[in-house]
Amino acid sequence: MTMPGKLYATRLNIDVSDRKLLGEHLNRALASIVDLHSQVKQAHWNIKGPWFFARHELFDKIAANLLAFADDVAERASALGNVAAGTAQHACELSILDGYPDKAVSGQEHLRHLADRYGQVVSMLRESTTVAGKKDPVTEDLLISTLSQLEQDLWFLESHLHD
Ligand SMILES: [Fe+2]
Repeated sequence: MTMPGKLYATRLNIDVSDRKLLGEHLNRALASIVDLHSQVKQAHWNIKGPWFFARHELFDKIAANLLAFADDVAERASALGNVAAGTAQHACELSILDGYPDKAVSGQEHLRHLADRYGQVVSMLRESTTVAGKKDPVTEDLLISTLSQLEQDLWFLESHLHD
């Protein structure tokens, strides 16, 4: 499976090549966010040890945020005329993330693995935000608000990693 290439006609006044480029960035973000959501739920289900409940709940809360971001990003891709790549199979193919380690058990391990992955996704979104800033302020605005909330969730994860 590769990035969906089809582009639908729209009355939006944005060049075809720009709509396609923005769609590629949005679909890469979508696939990675869908993947990250599944990885955060994996941590939510498998974490053990001290402060179990607080961390189990934190992971559920930030996973729910990711679902909302996926919806917004997919709908912008579609509004630009692209086919949104939002299935689990698209995520396998297009996500920038490594798979989640089955061996992670403790809170520290899960927090570190998740913080690393949030770091990768926010770096990718910063790059896409710069590209969108030259092409389409609406997509740029969406990516900035998504980035801002993801960075706050990364801060929550990193705060749990301090002694
Ligand atoms: Fe649950």
